[in-house]
Amino acid sequence: MKTATYTVYQADHPADFSLPPLGPLVLVNRQHPLQSGFSVPLQAPDERHPEQLMELQAARMLNACLRAVNCTDRIVPVSGWRSHREQQAIWDETLACEGEAFTRSYVALPGCSEHETGLAIDLGAAAEKIDPIRPELPRDGVYGDFRRAAAHYGFIERYRADKIALTGIAAEPWHFRYVGVPHARYMELHGLCLEEYIALLAETPLVCRLENGRTVTVRRVKDLQALPPAAGARQISPDNTGCYIVTDWEAMK
Ligand code: DAL
Ligand code: ZN
Repeated sequence: MKTATYTVYQADHPADFSLPPLGPLVLVNRQHPLQSGFSVPLQAPDERHPEQLMELQAARMLNACLRAVNCTDRIVPVSGWRSHREQQAIWDETLACEGEAFTRSYVALPGCSEHETGLAIDLGAAAEKIDPIRPELPRDGVYGDFRRAAAHYGFIERYRADKIALTGIAAEPWHFRYVGVPHARYMELHGLCLEEYIALLAETPLVCRLENGRTVTVRRVKDLQALPPAAGARQISPDNTGCYIVTDWEAMK
């Protein structure tokens, strides 16, 4: 796959190479707006739609997932990364055309949208006309295959009907958010949305066993200095609540 890689900065922020990168477990909602000043390397998950970009790792994993279930012709990226300005324009236009209740249900406040991180994408069934705000993505057939595979590639269906009170957003069966493995699988298995997962990690570390027998330990910490040294691969993601989520993969034997 040949795609361009871009490095962009949030909200017309001046390029600043000292900015920290964003992590896949960043919580973004009305109560947790994005902090300004982070860098996101972007790539198109589907080279046939080069205008729809995602954060690099998210783009790679979505591309792998779509290929694995053989649905690249049937599922199209409708809206990936959005600049703050684009999110504002979508908010303004939707408000003018559809009114406040609809807009609050289906468009995140500018500064509170996961699309601004590059970690989220709206996917739609390929069709001549696709609704840009509420694209259709069925649950059966090849779309079901994609949905069943998504968590294995680190994606969650972010806005479910039974979590509206927690997310503040209506059901959006088309909006997928990259959080990474094993987090996506744990959330799916236990029916948790990202707000619930982060709250759970505040109480207790998790130990997940992967199919290959290796364990992964997930902890939420405030002070990175207090962490024990890593025995294997370690990923650290800010969670946008003032803490970090630390994922430790057991070392290869
Ligand atoms: N449609 C989602 C909530 C967004 O605008 O980020
Ligand atoms: Zn979306």
